[in-house]
Amino acid sequence: MCGIVGYIGPKAALPFLVEGLKKLEYRGYDSAGVATLEAGELHVSKCVGKIADLETLLLTKPVPGSIGIGHTRWATHGQPSHLNSHPHEDCKSELVVVHNGIIENFLELRQELQERGHVFRSATDTEVFAHLIEENLQGDLLKAVQQALKAVKGTYALAVISKKEPGKIIAARSGSPLIIGHGEDELFIASDIPAILKYTSRVTYLDNGDVAELTPEGSRVFNLAGDPVIKEISLISWDPESAEKGGYSHFMLKEIHEQPNAIRKTIEGRVRAESHEIHFDELNLSDADIRGINRVVFTACGTSWHAGLIGEYLFEQYARLPAEVEYAAEFRYRHPIIDDKTLVVAITQSGETADTLGAVWEAKAQGARAIAICNVVGSTIAREADGVVYTNAGPEIGVASTKAFTTQLTIVYLLAIMFGQKRAILTELETAKLVNDLIEIPQKLEETLLGEPIVEEIAEKIYGATNSLYLGRGKGFPIALEGALKLKEVSYIHAEGYPAAEMKHGPIALIDKNMPVVVLAFAGRRYDKIIGNVEEVKARGGQVIAVASKGDNLIAERADEVIYIPQTTESLSPLLAVVPLQLLAYYIAVKRGCHIDQPRNLAKSVTVE
Ligand code: F6R
Repeated sequence: MCGIVGYIGPKAALPFLVEGLKKLEYRGYDSAGVATLEAGELHVSKCVGKIADLETLLLTKPVPGSIGIGHTRWATHGQPSHLNSHPHEDCKSELVVVHNGIIENFLELRQELQERGHVFRSATDTEVFAHLIEENLQGDLLKAVQQALKAVKGTYALAVISKKEPGKIIAARSGSPLIIGHGEDELFIASDIPAILKYTSRVTYLDNGDVAELTPEGSRVFNLAGDPVIKEISLISWDPESAEKGGYSHFMLKEIHEQPNAIRKTIEGRVRAESHEIHFDELNLSDADIRGINRVVFTACGTSWHAGLIGEYLFEQYARLPAEVEYAAEFRYRHPIIDDKTLVVAITQSGETADTLGAVWEAKAQGARAIAICNVVGSTIAREADGVVYTNAGPEIGVASTKAFTTQLTIVYLLAIMFGQKRAILTELETAKLVNDLIEIPQKLEETLLGEPIVEEIAEKIYGATNSLYLGRGKGFPIALEGALKLKEVSYIHAEGYPAAEMKHGPIALIDKNMPVVVLAFAGRRYDKIIGNVEEVKARGGQVIAVASKGDNLIAERADEVIYIPQTTESLSPLLAVVPLQLLAYYIAVKRGCHIDQPRNLAKSVTVE
């Protein structure tokens, strides 16, 4: 939540600051601000609203200079207001700070600072940084920041500039992500890669406790005690185009359409063509290690949790291993019973979700092996886990997760099949069939996407609904949950996902002619039972929108609308079935005029508990 950027180099800072903030807007978008230094003077511009509002303000109040920092906010302490917008200043307006994270002891620090005469202007936790640095500033900004950081408890990625030392930016990280981008003769800082991708692919990932000093001569990194820290420069393989909309009206739509190729990239290099053997060399799991695992626990939040729920079903089915999925926030505080024979699999697009990170720490503390399925290379969870499998989906900018989900699922399938194979549960023939069917999924997804106009027509019919129900059985149930979550997030229509059989135990009371009921009715062993649930909804006047397998004529006689997906193995159907539900949520949101890529109150990385 919140995004920060910084620039130091020969050019004007403002164009990068604004462009970088736009790329980070998915992290928060209730207010924004920038500050620059020129000729020893600080220039600050900030306002409530999105980066577009800040741009309008900057037309009348530009900020000059070739050193600057910026911030886009997702409010935690203090409502979105001009005063609470970053950057925050010290009493004398000699330095400014932007911050992503939460200072847990800010009330105590604020009181102490006020008692010592500091005057606060905002209700934010961040402002304590400005005053703490001010107090410690005796001719060395780097040292003052290091001293100030020793007093705070909590998480931060921050950047500071001061007119007392106009040739530098000090940046620091603990718990919230921060990278340095190395350009030709310029340096960038940002909370995430898309902000700098257009300018450089050479980055340094800051670690917890790192404090960096950026000057026109280069960057140096120290720890809080002031000792130098040697950092590597990594090369980012993402292509700059991947962080642009590429002709689509929204990132969400672009990312939905990217799924066939994203899944191809996820599978690529992980399956040996002849033997169908699956390998994840990056996990360093020997065959003996795999056979020694007696339980698998998936842990995640939101959409990633839905991928974990399918993981639970798949590991039970293919690998015959006890498996479960846990909400990360519950797992981490619940005294989970795990040991060195437990494999904990954290699933996370961003790799920065605070609760999922906490769950990884808890798993490791209990002696379990914690691996991550993650999209963002070099992210905190990727580095804290005992091993990481990257989903290779490319940057996901739309706040509602789409391609991250299907690529997470792809990894979960591959892992479950690999475990089934190594534990001698799946025969060679079964493995080969599953792997071949998985390899065919991208092409079947392309076919699924051809049904987009039908989905758009359905959206036209139901976009005025205020409530909706999503039902599924077996692996259709997690997809019902995911379809409902997508609709809630982007269209603000209340939606519930339910195991179809549970409908009779309560939700059926809600059904009337105004209630669209989306039913996952793809072919498989539960098909007849799902048809029974469709009849129950129809008998109560509900409108049924079914997602069914091609060639199913029976469903067309019962449901009001049918969206067909290509036939595949039952257990792989979720990968196809979720896509029309993503499109349905998207088109309903378009028709309701919603802010699709940046839904209200949401942020892409939830770095607070
Ligand atoms: C929903 C969505 C969220 C995330 C959740 C976890 O569309 O994006 O529910 O799935 O916040 O985020 P990650 O996967 O980054 O840990």
